[in-house]
Amino acid sequence: MKRPFFITLYMMILILTLERCKNEQKDTHNTSASSPFTDVASEIKLSKNDSLFFVQEGTLTAKQLYAGILARLNKALDEQGPYESVKYCNHYALHITDSLAKTFGIKAKRTSLKLRNPKNAPDSLEKTILEMYQQTMSKNPIIISTKDSVKFFTPIYIAPICLHCHGIPNKDIPDVTLIALNQLYPNDQAKNYELYDIRGIWSITFPKNYQSKFHTIHNLKN
Ligand code: HEC
Repeated sequence: MKRPFFITLYMMILILTLERCKNEQKDTHNTSASSPFTDVASEIKLSKNDSLFFVQEGTLTAKQLYAGILARLNKALDEQGPYESVKYCNHYALHITDSLAKTFGIKAKRTSLKLRNPKNAPDSLEKTILEMYQQTMSKNPIIISTKDSVKFFTPIYIAPICLHCHGIPNKDIPDVTLIALNQLYPNDQAKNYELYDIRGIWSITFPKNYQSKFHTIHNLKN
C-alpha cells in the first residue's frame, strides 16, 4: 500500500516548521540568554554568531534525522508490514545516531516524558526542557552552551503518520501493530497521543570544537 499523501503532507509540515524556526532564530538567542536551566547545566554564554551557527546546525541535523527516519519508516511499512517496521524503527534510530557520533562527534537522541523504549529516557536537563515545552507548546529550538559542549533541543509534535504507532489503540493503531508494540515494549507509555500533541524532543549535543572542525573541513574542500 503506497502512502504518497502522508509523505507529501508530512514534508509540508516539516518545511513549515523549519521556516518558522528560521524566522524565530532571533527569539531563540534571547530565550537561551535568560535561561531557566542554570540549576541543571552550568551555562556559558555564546556569541550571537555562535548561537546562530548552532541553531542552524541543530535544526539541519534534526531535519535530516527526522526525514531519514520517516522515509525509511514509510518504506518499511509499505514493504514489510507493521510488525517488521516497528522493529525496524528501533534498529534504524540506533544506527543513525551511532554514525553521527562517529563521523562528527555529534550525539543525537529522541526523548520523551512518555517513553516507549526506556533506553531513550531523558537526563535531568532534558526532563526540564521537556516539561517546559509541554507547558508552553513552543516550536522554538533552545541552545545551551556548557564547558565542553553545545546542546540543542527542538520539540517533536505528532503528525498524521505518527498516529499509526502512537495514537489510540484499535482506532489509530491497527491490531497487528498493537501486537508487535505490546511484545517489544511491554511498558510502552507512548500510545494514546492525538494529532499535534507534543511527543518529545530531539536532544543534540555538539562537541565544543565542532565549529572549528566544520571550518577546517570546509576550507580543505575549497
Ligand atoms: C511504525 C511505527 C512507528 C511510527 C509510524 C512512528 N513511531 Fe515513534 N516509535 C516507534 C517505536 C517502535 C519506537 C521505539 C524506538 C526505540 O526502541 O528506540 C518509537 C520511539 C519514538 C520516540 C522516542 C521516545 C520513546 O518513546 O522511546 C519518539 C520521540 C517518537 N517515536 C516520535 C514519533 C513521531 C513524532 C512519529 C511521527 C512522525 C513517529 N514516532 C512515528 C514506532 C513508530
